[in-house]
Amino acid sequence: PVPPAADPDLLGFTGIAIGTDDSVHVAPGYTASVLAPWGTPLFSTGAGSTWAGDASEDAAAQARQMGDNHDGIHYFALAGRSDEGLLVMNHEYTNPQYLFTDGVVNSLDDANKDLNAHGVSVVHIRRTAGVWNIVLDSTYNRRITGDTPMQLTGAAAGHALLQTTADATGTVALGTLNNCGNGFTPWGTYLTCEENFNQYFGTTNTAVPGMTRNANQLRYGLSSAGTSRKYEQYHDRFDWQKEPNEANRFGWIVEIDPFDPASMPKKRTSLGRIKHENAAYAIAADGRVVVYMGDDQANDYIYKFVTAGHYIEGDTANNRDLLDTGTLYVAKFNAGAVANDMMGTGEWMPMTTANPALAAYATQAEILVNTRLAADAMGATPMDRPEWVAVHPQTQEVYVTLTNNSGRSTTDDANPRAANVYGQIIRWRETGGDPTALTFEWDLFVLAGNPTIAQANPLNKGSANVTSDNTFNSPDGLGFDRDGRLWIQTDGNYSNTGNYANQGNNQMLCADPRTKEIRRFFVGPVECEVTGLTFTPDSKTLFINIQHPGEGGNSHWPEGGAALPRSATVVITKDDGGVIGT
Ligand code: FEO
Ligand code: CA
Ligand code: CA
Ligand code: CA
Repeated sequence: PVPPAADPDLLGFTGIAIGTDDSVHVAPGYTASVLAPWGTPLFSTGAGSTWAGDASEDAAAQARQMGDNHDGIHYFALAGRSDEGLLVMNHEYTNPQYLFTDGVVNSLDDANKDLNAHGVSVVHIRRTAGVWNIVLDSTYNRRITGDTPMQLTGAAAGHALLQTTADATGTVALGTLNNCGNGFTPWGTYLTCEENFNQYFGTTNTAVPGMTRNANQLRYGLSSAGTSRKYEQYHDRFDWQKEPNEANRFGWIVEIDPFDPASMPKKRTSLGRIKHENAAYAIAADGRVVVYMGDDQANDYIYKFVTAGHYIEGDTANNRDLLDTGTLYVAKFNAGAVANDMMGTGEWMPMTTANPALAAYATQAEILVNTRLAADAMGATPMDRPEWVAVHPQTQEVYVTLTNNSGRSTTDDANPRAANVYGQIIRWRETGGDPTALTFEWDLFVLAGNPTIAQANPLNKGSANVTSDNTFNSPDGLGFDRDGRLWIQTDGNYSNTGNYANQGNNQMLCADPRTKEIRRFFVGPVECEVTGLTFTPDSKTLFINIQHPGEGGNSHWPEGGAALPRSATVVITKDDGGVIGT
């Protein structure tokens, strides 16, 4: 659909300069405050009910406190309220240098603490006198960790490739790991996306003859030896020589019902096994639900899943397991009528046993466990690291951040730069405005770059909507608000030198999808990335996450002084009580 004429009020704030100090900066007229940093207690009694501040907590305490490395996040309103809800967020990985007093895992309890600092938090929050606080001891408060039982559902559930010593049924996995971006469903559940799960799987035994990594383990990048996290030294399931199928139980999208603290999370295998970034949905006119997904690795692919069933508003029994049955597709981006004009056409290729290109796979389960290898055989287009997907709330146009790909050698129209250090955002319109369509038209919304320094490749100055005032690298987090503002978050090089001079710390920008104008709204502290975004229904409170401040050892955010740096949520409000972005 053709977007409506530009609304002069869509970007109403004054853009800000870069930041390089150890604090957050937000546009004039806005206030940013900190909520729920790593280690914050969710309960007032028992293990983990106080934050020591020196990393001395044990595994049991960490299991009842906020996890580390806040990432994807969603606000679920309670009774439609914009001042009380459930904040659900991912804890992607950990910073061992801060998680442990000696900076490393060297005991069973350390390994378990590390597992417990991963996963998801469900946190009941309420705004009182303008301040958002955690409702301690709420029955909704819940930690889901790297050890929480979850059900494997969908077309691969129960398959021999998912069976282990501990679970001969192949239907109950322990834990979720490397939960990066997120999604949510129109029926009120949270989707958490397992990304770089391979880093948890290694082996303590490198000398067993004949025990080499298979094609799947190589394609997903399992270690041939030990891992830095050392889980394999304390739990056999993380040693692929002892439990070769355990890693197959990761790399999925997991659905969580935040309103039912007793519910078992469900790994929805029909959506494919990749290094999932996030999940963004669109609803077709006939009610089928389409979920868009990126696989975040250099030269990996973009996917969509189309449900067989139809969403019916308010019909929980109908909607509950919609994500278990449907068709997975992988994308091909063609140059279109003109080469090298950063626009073209595309097609969605079905990943089913009926596709002759997948004749090597006997069952859908095998296609799903080997999603990357199957897509390799189909001629999908290798992209510049697909990160977050966002769907425009009115037009259903789809946007994806391609964060960077410094190793790219051969270029194409959608990935037009070799040694791509800045990244780009691609977008497409499905044929006929139908999210289930098998063809689309695409163009590049922005080619990130740096126009403030000399560039041998003119494309590295960025597209026309990149200026000395908004320059950035490595777009990653992405999302629309209800009015159609496109929010862009960065996870890039924060050195502020060389290719990245005058770009400062990682940041959040806001774009008008119609005019393509981009303004800088927020800047994070030292050595962080800015990731995850969600709004209250009135769009007057914005929650974002600051992940891994001080990953290089140079931050004390948010407390300052000599405090350990802590990943945390940042709450942003407009001082006049208005809608964020105006
Ligand atoms: Fe966890 Fe692709 O970022
Ligand atoms: Ca073209
Ligand atoms: Ca990310
Ligand atoms: Ca990233």
